[in-house]
This record gives sequence, structure tokens and C-alpha cells, in this order.
Amino acid sequence: MATYLDHNATTPMAPEVLEAMLPYLRGPYANASSLHRLGRASRDAIEAARAEVAELLGAQPSQVIWTSGGTEANNLAIKGVMHDGGRLLYAATEHPAVMECAESLSDARTQVEAIGVDEGGLIDLDRLRAQLAQSPVTLVSVMAANNETGVIQDVAGLARAVHADAEALFHVDAVQAAGKMAVDVQRMGADLLTVSSHKLYGPKGVGALLRTAPVDLWPLHHGGAQEGGLRGGTENVAAIVGFGAAARLAQTRLDARTVHLQRLRERFEAGLAAIPGVTHFAAQSLRLPNTVQMALQGWAGETLLMALDRQGFCVSSGSACAIGHGAPSHVLVAMGVPDALAIGAIRISFGEANTDDDVDRLLAALTGLARQGAR
Ligand SMILES: Cc1ncc(COP(=O)(O)O)c(C=O)c1O
Repeated sequence: MATYLDHNATTPMAPEVLEAMLPYLRGPYANASSLHRLGRASRDAIEAARAEVAELLGAQPSQVIWTSGGTEANNLAIKGVMHDGGRLLYAATEHPAVMECAESLSDARTQVEAIGVDEGGLIDLDRLRAQLAQSPVTLVSVMAANNETGVIQDVAGLARAVHADAEALFHVDAVQAAGKMAVDVQRMGADLLTVSSHKLYGPKGVGALLRTAPVDLWPLHHGGAQEGGLRGGTENVAAIVGFGAAARLAQTRLDARTVHLQRLRERFEAGLAAIPGVTHFAAQSLRLPNTVQMALQGWAGETLLMALDRQGFCVSSGSACAIGHGAPSHVLVAMGVPDALAIGAIRISFGEANTDDDVDRLLAALTGLARQGAR
């Protein structure tokens, strides 16, 4: 039996989501662009889901652009805006789907710069303001909550600075935030906002970019009129319907989910404090209710992950995407954590189905491994 504690990598699909999808896998198969009645049925299902995703995020349905997930939505936001070059700023702790996308654009026409964070993982507003004042900025991209540490940025405050000081566009990667905390695109001041279904108990391979301002986007690929020509290709109706159902669930369950996750995290953190040799990263920062990133003295992150795996616990070493790289997490390095400590990081991310018993068994396993590490 495995105990799954890796919900920031992906979540299991909620049974209600599967139920909502099944009819579209078994039955209505028509192309949503077809004008006949079956095509219109697929179109209606897509539009109902669009309204549900918009509602979760305080947006209008017309502002939702379907994508294949967070990576594509981040690429569409960044490449779509930076098509004609300019100056792009992104936080040093961004997910590779922003960071590597941004770096790939760096050339004679496009200046790309990282924004530093403090030791708690937060963007320093004064430093950002200084960067904004240097020369005109086209786009600033910042994540609402970090996938590794769970650190939550003051996105609304950053948006005010970006819009007032630089008149730049503001993109928010809300992939980890959506479904775990309130995400309102207007309140966050985001011109563009990324979400992904599989992080909130929906199916994989579907996400969305929200566009709330009249931003001129250049599509990533051409050859279809879907999504106003911004995302050509026949829609995956069942996946989109599943995303809509997951968004609806997230909205009705958000408060209960937050209370449950926060309680599990607090129980875990209280137990961690009694284990010798534990480093708890960004412990003093405001964080997602479900996320703990930590290291155990004497253990490399991947070795610790495998030791926990042998005892039935599924956790992650830093970001799932970094597995196998053997490099310290760029997030921790940006926070000033020494490489030797950062290499020991593992991430525990609780989910809806986890229990007090899961937490207590994990604490017992870590206590045993701490003794081994100290030998
Ligand atoms: C903050 C963040 N942005 C983007 C992504 C990529 O999302 P997707 O897996 O839907 O492509 C992830 C996935 O881990 C993420 O954590």
C-alpha cells in the first residue's frame, strides 16, 4: 500500500470528475466545430466547462483560453506577449515552464532578467521597483504560490507596482494556488493567469490561460480557428468537461479542503520539530496549506525519497521536474540556501484524502531515518 504525499506533482482525479467525463468518453464524440446537432452538443459541454473554470477564478468565460496544461499556458502567455521582443522579468523561483520559456527567448531583441527573492522566497518589492525603473518592461511573470516551498507571493501588491511603475503586463502562474487557496484574477491584478486541471483533482493534459486585459497574443501554433485562433486544434471535450467539474468541486470544497490540509500540515510540522537534524525551508513564510519542504541531516534528497518509498511513502525531491538532474533546487539556491543543504530537500504535499494516520506514520518513518542519518 502506498501513501501518496505528492499532490503538488499531480492529484488523483476526483470520482465526481470521472463521472462527469465518462459520458463524453463513451458517447457524444462529435467535433465541437461541427455545425450539426451532435457538434453543438460537444460545443455546449465545452462552454459549460468554460463558465465553471471562469467562475472559480473570478473571470468571464470569454477570458478563458483552453490549453494542454500549465506548461502550454505559460508558454502562450510569455511567447504570445514577447513575440515582437522587449524586456521580460520573471521571479528567480519560477517553475521551469516559465523560467526556461523566458530564457529561450533571450536574444538581441529580447532582454530577459530574473527578479531576486529574499531568504523566505518572497520577491522584494523595492528590488522589483528598481528593476522596473531601469528601462521599459513589456511583461512581468510571477507565480502565485511556489510548487516546491509553497511560498505565497503578495501578487496583488506586485501587480500594483508593475502596472503603476512600468505600465507593463502582468502574468501570474497560479497552477499551484488554484484549488488550494482563493484565486481571483481581478483581485490579483493579473492580465494573464495560468491554471492546470491535474493539480486540482481534474484530468491531466488540460489547462487554461486567462486573458483579462486586451493583450495582443501571438499563438504558439497555427492551423485552426479554435479559441479565437489562439489555440488551434480539435478540443478534447472529455478532458475539458473534467476540468470544469474539478473547478466546480474546488469552489464548493475550498474552505473545507484548506482547513483539512492546514491541520495535517500543522500536525506534521509539530512532529517535525521533535526530530533532530531537520531543516524546514521557508518555514516562516506564508505558504500553501498542504506543502512542506525539508531536509534531514545526513541524507541527500533523492536517497531519502527512495528510503521513504521503500516504506510506502510517495514524496518528491524538490520539483518533480528536477528529478534525475542531481542539482540543487534552483528555488532554494535563489533563497540563498547553500548547495550542500539544498541537495537534501524533499517535498511533502498533502491532499484531500490524507489522514492524521498518514502524518503520524510518516513522522515515525522520518524519526527512524534521522537516527540512521546521524550514524
Ligand atoms: C507552478 C507550476 N507551473 C506550471 C506547471 C506545469 O503544469 P502542467 O503540468 O499542467 O504542464 C507546474 C507543474 O508542476 C507548476 O507547479
